[in-house]
Amino acid sequence: MKLQNKRIVVTGCAGFIGSHLTERLVNADNVVIGIDNFTAGKREFLAPIEGKKNFELVEGDLLSLDLDEIFRGSEIVFHFAANPEIRVGITDTRIHLNQNVIVTYHVLEGARKQGIKNIVFPSTSTVYGEPEVIPTPENYGPLLPISLYGASKLGCEALISAYCHTFDMRSVIYRFANVVGPRSTHNVLHDFLKKLEKDHKHLEILGSPPGTKKSYIHVSECIDAMILGAERAQSSVEIFNIGSKDSITVHQIADIVVEELGLADVVYLWTGGVKGGRGWVGDVKEMLLSIRKIEDLGWSPRLSSSQAVRKAVREMIGKDETKL
Ligand SMILES: NC(=O)c1ccc[n+]([C@@H]2O[C@H](COP(=O)([O-])OP(=O)(O)OC[C@H]3O[C@@H](n4cnc5c(N)ncnc54)[C@H](O)[C@@H]3O)[C@@H](O)[C@H]2O)c1
Repeated sequence: MKLQNKRIVVTGCAGFIGSHLTERLVNADNVVIGIDNFTAGKREFLAPIEGKKNFELVEGDLLSLDLDEIFRGSEIVFHFAANPEIRVGITDTRIHLNQNVIVTYHVLEGARKQGIKNIVFPSTSTVYGEPEVIPTPENYGPLLPISLYGASKLGCEALISAYCHTFDMRSVIYRFANVVGPRSTHNVLHDFLKKLEKDHKHLEILGSPPGTKKSYIHVSECIDAMILGAERAQSSVEIFNIGSKDSITVHQIADIVVEELGLADVVYLWTGGVKGGRGWVGDVKEMLLSIRKIEDLGWSPRLSSSQAVRKAVREMIGKDETKL
């Protein structure tokens, strides 16, 4: 499935990853119908493609939009709309069920009714819960998420698989490590930059030192991997991990942010965290994905986790505008 000259729907097109993806698909001469309700997404993220003839924006909520008309004639749906905030599930137990599982059901129904056969879905490393095998391969099991977010994404994967088998559809599911880069609005880099903007001397860090240890991938590399995976997938339900080849601690991330901001003598104020030093309930302590499967198809990350984080920080503070 070459991603060129296709008619493609992207849900969550104004979000962090969705806007980068939409830009890439529009620039590859696809006609893209983007859907977003702007709860987290921003109009300015779509500025580079605004006004292009092959991009159409539909503003609305996937829980209530009539998708028949919007989906008609498209060949692929990249379903990126979701509530990706893991912590929200602690205080609102329904939000991930509605925004992730039910929204995905609506999207799948829309696709089924319009005869769209291809679904591309961003899942997450959190579906693995706290795996005993690290780096964790795609065929690891049992999958026992420890957050309601992880559970909802695993539920989405299950629905997508069932739709593919029942209605002769195909899907590519990506389990992402932590994705970083410009336009991100809800990750540890964003959090640290916001806090240090307010107070140059202290940085509150959730958890206990050195913090959780996870793999980080730059959004640009993540999109390269996704496009290659979607173009080369073989099975009707193909799952790929996407991440870098190593992991770094929250402490290392704090050091990178402080260094890139040119600050000195910042005092780290660790909150102590919960359940053995995690940032919050449901925060996985260690995450590193095996990426051999997608590497065998021909994609490999060029940046390590710390290089990806450093580039993202530099981009977020306007020090780096080079393309990867
Ligand atoms: N960022 C990461 O590190 C990461 C890691 C793993 C998986 N993912 C997944 O990738 C996808 C994109 O994540 P992101 O970080 O870009 O998040 P994001 O919040 O920046 O993007 C989600 C977009 O969807 C839109 N949206 C949400 N609910 C909607 C609804 N009901 N109707 C219409 N639009 C709606 C939001 O306004 C936003 O623009 C999500 O599915 C997320 O679960 C992200």
